Amino acid sequence: MMLFRVGVIGCGAIGSEICKAIDTDSFEGRTLGLNMRLSFLIDKHKEKIENLCEQLKHPPAIKMCGSTAKDVRFDEILHEVDLVIECASQSAVKEFVIPALEAGKDVMILSVGALAEEGMLERIEKIAREHRCDVYIPSGAIAGLDGLKSAAVSEIYEVRLTTRKPPAGFEGNRFVKEKGIDLAAVQKEGKPLVLFEGVAADACRIFPENVNVAASLSIAGIGARKTKVRVIADPRVRENTHEIEVRGAFGSLCVRVENVPSPTNPKTSHLAALSAIATLKRISHPLKVGT
Ligand SMILES: NC(=O)c1ccc[n+]([C@@H]2O[C@H](COP(=O)([O-])OP(=O)(O)OC[C@H]3O[C@@H](n4cnc5c(N)ncnc54)[C@H](O)[C@@H]3O)[C@@H](O)[C@H]2O)c1
Repeated sequence: MMLFRVGVIGCGAIGSEICKAIDTDSFEGRTLGLNMRLSFLIDKHKEKIENLCEQLKHPPAIKMCGSTAKDVRFDEILHEVDLVIECASQSAVKEFVIPALEAGKDVMILSVGALAEEGMLERIEKIAREHRCDVYIPSGAIAGLDGLKSAAVSEIYEVRLTTRKPPAGFEGNRFVKEKGIDLAAVQKEGKPLVLFEGVAADACRIFPENVNVAASLSIAGIGARKTKVRVIADPRVRENTHEIEVRGAFGSLCVRVENVPSPTNPKTSHLAALSAIATLKRISHPLKVGT
């Protein structure tokens, strides 16, 4: 059987899980039935590629540090793959996703926040349409996009995302610093503090930590200017928690996700890697359940 060929950009927390799943065609002992093989790995840090390759039974022959390696350019290796997975960073979306689409390759994007930039989503959609390729955006760290997508076929009155994190989770955020918010005091007091209330377009700018979730929700629903976001420093939660509320002609839905962090990157929710692997299953299996 011909194996579906995959190139992965980003050998970090999510990329490693994806590559190991493709390599073994299983996850934690459960068979996935992907029938895929890795054709290339790209990362800007050589040691990330090397570390990952040591964990793979069948490491790919092509490994590139950045978009060029020796005399080879990214566009010259694209004929080796059917699907390019970006799980690196927002800058990698511009660097790799657009050339991959222009070469007629399907892509999967994890750094969805890149699509929050003015005009980027439309640009990617236009290129994909022209070159007849698919762009997969996994649900990432949230759930409920299926219901939201269905609801968006009709009228939606409101989409609201509430993100709660332990106060320490906002350490280093520029907005929190500028406002002079004492996160240790919030923790000590034990009461939740609303840090931001506004639309997704602004939330993406002010809280880049939240950007992927807000961007995915906006794409599936009513856009970044209409999707409402609240960000709360909450001493009562241990995990990053996202609550999604949708009201529309269909009725209403409410989804709450309490995310366990990835074992290798505490900023990334474990569910994000799982959702990418589930998307690979969706691509490779004839039965596609869920909207
Ligand atoms: N969709 C979601 O809900 C969701 C959830 C979590 C993370 N993410 C996003 O997925 C991406 C990967 O997350 P992660 O936890 O695996 O990150 P990570 O930091 O663990 O790994 C990213 C890897 O990509 C490499 N990289 C970054 N920019 C690159 C570039 N321009 N060219 C080549 N290599 C590059 C880094 O060296 C690193 O090894 C991030 O952008 C993150 O924001 C999305």
